[in-house]
Amino acid sequence: MEATSIVTRGGSETGTVNLATSAPLVFEPYAVNKILGGFTLFDKLTLEPVGTGMIDFALRRASNIHWQALEIGKATRAAQKHQTPRCIWFTGLSGSGKSTVANLLEKRLYAQGRHTYLLDDDNVRHGLNRNLGFTEADRVENIRRAAEVAKLMVDAGLIVLVSFISPFTAERRMARSLFAPDEFVEVFVDSPLATCEQRDVKDLYAKARRGDLKNFTGIDSPYEPPATPEVHLLAAQYSPDWCVEQLLHVLG
Ligand code: ADX
Repeated sequence: MEATSIVTRGGSETGTVNLATSAPLVFEPYAVNKILGGFTLFDKLTLEPVGTGMIDFALRRASNIHWQALEIGKATRAAQKHQTPRCIWFTGLSGSGKSTVANLLEKRLYAQGRHTYLLDDDNVRHGLNRNLGFTEADRVENIRRAAEVAKLMVDAGLIVLVSFISPFTAERRMARSLFAPDEFVEVFVDSPLATCEQRDVKDLYAKARRGDLKNFTGIDSPYEPPATPEVHLLAAQYSPDWCVEQLLHVLG
């Protein structure tokens, strides 16, 4: 649906937005019916109201796209591969060791005869996400696309390793919500900022410190560490091999 006049708490911001809901809603345009056309948004955690809005109209795509039921399902594809499909989601600062550990884990899984795919942030940003930068809005979209692709790959029966900074808790929660509870394994690759900056393999921290690179995670863009990841790797203290052993242990 498209809604106008989303007024945030304090009344400081208004705008026109497209809204998607996870379940169908009954509504009328505000111009037709003030009760069925007005709404309040609440913060999911605090239950505090954070904004109000008026609905303009339903977007046509909402009612014209149907879910196509397919004959061969996830379980069938997974059984053919003799494995349990999973999304292993690596999060951490740039230079924390996500790609190194994810690469090594994929090699080990491959050697065990598993069917895998590694979605690596830099690579995905060369193709599917090449129109996205590093503003907050672009990062949100970046993660949404990565999560949806990972979901399709899990549906295909694969063990998918996703290696993205994914700095925001809300987006990681959104990614998790696309999967069954034990399908999603969040791995926090926890290396201190000072260590990542000292390594600076891509010379990006130096650029960010000089002010030549804006919105750099850890410098002038936030990283929200996961509070309860399935796996917490102290990657600066332990070798990548040891980290992979930990992961294989958890994956069983
Ligand atoms: S995310 O924050 O949206 O999840 P993502 O993981 O896709 O980021 O991309 C991070 C990679 O892009 C980094 O490893 C780095 O190579 C590169 N990069 C370029 N500019 C930035 C920036 N401003 N902040 C973070 N990473 C950046």
